Amino acid sequence: MGKPPTDFIKSAINLISRSKLSVFGGIVISILSPVLFISILIDIQGVVQNPYFGFLIYLVLGPLFLIGLIFVLAGIFLSRGKENIGLFTFEYIEEQLSRPGRYSRIRRHILLTVSITIATVFIVGMVATTGFQYTETNEFCGLFCHQVMEPAYSSYQNSPHSRVSCVECHIGKSSEWLTKAKFSGAKQLLAVVLDSYPRPIIPPIQTLRPERQTCEECHRPEMFHGDKLHIKDRFLPDEKNTHVQTALLMKIGSGGYQGRKAQGIHWHVSEQHQVFYRHLDNAQEDITEVWLKNGGEKTHFNKTPDNIDSSKSTPGSGEVRQMDCMDCHNRPTHVFRSADEALDEKIMTGAIPRDIPYIKRQALEVITQHYDSVENARLGISKGITMWYKNSYPALFKRGTTPLDTAIKGIQQAYMENVFPEMNVQWGTYKDFIGHKNNTGCFRCHGGLHTSADGQMISNDCDSCHIILAENEPASSVLNLLKRLNK
Ligand code: HEC
Ligand code: HEC
Ligand code: HEC
Ligand code: HEC
Ligand code: HEC
Repeated sequence: MGKPPTDFIKSAINLISRSKLSVFGGIVISILSPVLFISILIDIQGVVQNPYFGFLIYLVLGPLFLIGLIFVLAGIFLSRGKENIGLFTFEYIEEQLSRPGRYSRIRRHILLTVSITIATVFIVGMVATTGFQYTETNEFCGLFCHQVMEPAYSSYQNSPHSRVSCVECHIGKSSEWLTKAKFSGAKQLLAVVLDSYPRPIIPPIQTLRPERQTCEECHRPEMFHGDKLHIKDRFLPDEKNTHVQTALLMKIGSGGYQGRKAQGIHWHVSEQHQVFYRHLDNAQEDITEVWLKNGGEKTHFNKTPDNIDSSKSTPGSGEVRQMDCMDCHNRPTHVFRSADEALDEKIMTGAIPRDIPYIKRQALEVITQHYDSVENARLGISKGITMWYKNSYPALFKRGTTPLDTAIKGIQQAYMENVFPEMNVQWGTYKDFIGHKNNTGCFRCHGGLHTSADGQMISNDCDSCHIILAENEPASSVLNLLKRLNK
């Protein structure tokens, strides 16, 4: 007793030292094992938050370690030492077994092989699973290619879905999805390395578009019911930055459930019928045909020919899709506001003090200038505001931090949350399809341009979607109106 472990190590070293390949692999492994072990421990404890740390461990050190291991094993297999041992060949084993004195030696070899195999399986398994898990984290998705993903990541952080992980939405549950995602991911990594990715990044309609089932794990439109009061706060560009409100009663409706009929806005996603559409462009803005399938019945709506750009459209061109949540909720988490809305939100929350005269108007003026970098935007905003108020309202400049300093910070924030000049994301680059600004969104089909052969038109009636209770009216009067309705 006591002898075997040292014996074991000796014979391991002996075996490895027979081939240069194994020696090289052995050196790589011995250097990396303690580093890898400690790094993984640190990572599990969550001490280091830097996204590159995970990348280094799981996608650089891990694979290097595996390569070292492969070298060691390959070296042992290929080595033709003095005794010309074909280690795992039957002849060798037979020969060894036939000589009684050699018996203990072959036992050592078997022990060695078994333990190396177990260690390999264990380590390979661990590096592979942790590495895989790492590519599923928000840090990897959102921060690793920092500049590329910044618009998607920042907008995500300011949305109601900031606790839903990227992969939960972008990668479906089936293994087919997973392969699709990893292939597409590998292609994207290559595009980042080659610096050939599009700026801005195009919405992932073909590859990584969320599945409807994903949304339905948390939201079930068939269970929705009734209307929803939606109040929008705005500030006018006048001296007082007058607070006005628009109040809409949204006909949220329902997808229909257990005998209840589908109705209202979520009628589109009912099980009882399907809506299909043909779009000519990748942005899905130019919809030329719509089909409604209702049991055996099929209604076909065509866009009036005068409104189709014939240079782009030949019969049957474009792509057909079934309508799902994302055709309206294309911005559930990557929410990019218009300049107007972004400033209204900051004024509403107090990040821009609303008692500074004309602050909405002046902020809108500086924030909509074109800047070629975030740094220049910050400078431009600060300079523009300071200069105008120095001339027009010098009394606002006192010692210490003034409300104007707070306002400048708020305006810069509004810019940085929505505009990413390095990625060519400007105001309005990504369109939200939930309403009908500039004839997109719902009006891609409900704009009064799509009719069937028997003269039906996809409804354009304002009241089918919402009842407008007030539009840009002083906030106090909207409150009174609601109180009256409540009586
Ligand atoms: C709640 C679901 C959801 C989550 C969570 C989510 N996304 Fe998205 N993402 C979407 C949808 C929907 C689109 C637009 C799809 C379309 O228009 O076809 C999109 C689009 C994108 C795009 C294309 C650019 C754009 O804005 O259209 C990128 C890049 C992206 N997501 C990255 C991410 C990253 C990185 C994360 C995590 C930090 C993330 N997403 C989390 C739903 C989600
Ligand atoms: C893991 C759960 C989860 C998933 C998956 C999810 N959501 Fe949500 N969603 C939430 C939560 C939580 C909220 C916030 C509810 C609130 O604030 O009242 C929310 C809010 C919303 C809202 C209301 C937003 C607002 O500003 O009021 C919409 C619309 C929405 N989600 C659509 C979607 C769509 C479309 C998908 C699929 C791409 C999706 N969600 C996937 C959990 C989820
Ligand atoms: C025809 C367009 C359309 C489709 C398709 C659609 N929605 Fe909506 N959804 C809307 C509109 C419009 C609203 C109201 C938004 C508002 O008031 O700002 C809404 C509201 C919601 C809300 C918030 C409800 C509330 O009471 O606050 C959730 C959650 C939601 N939708 C989830 C989904 C999911 C999940 C799907 C897919 C199964 C889906 N929607 C399909 C247009 C649509
Ligand atoms: C791809 C085309 C398409 C888009 C985009 C679309 N709809 Fe529709 N919608 C239809 C069709 C087709 C019908 C059925 C014909 C009709 O009722 O006019 C319909 C019907 C409706 C109805 C009546 C449902 C009922 O009870 O009969 C409402 C409400 C509605 N849509 C709201 C919206 C809203 C809100 C949006 C935008 C967020 C929207 N739709 C976007 C195609 C579309
Ligand atoms: C197919 C459904 C649909 C039809 C038809 C429709 N709207 Fe809308 N409308 C919407 C949705 C969805 C919103 C967005 C609510 C939101 O932003 O959350 C909206 C928003 C609005 C707003 C508020 C805009 C804002 O941001 O202040 C006004 C005003 C409005 N609609 C007026 C009209 C008028 C007037 C008509 C008739 C010509 C009409 N709408 C027809 C679906 C519709």
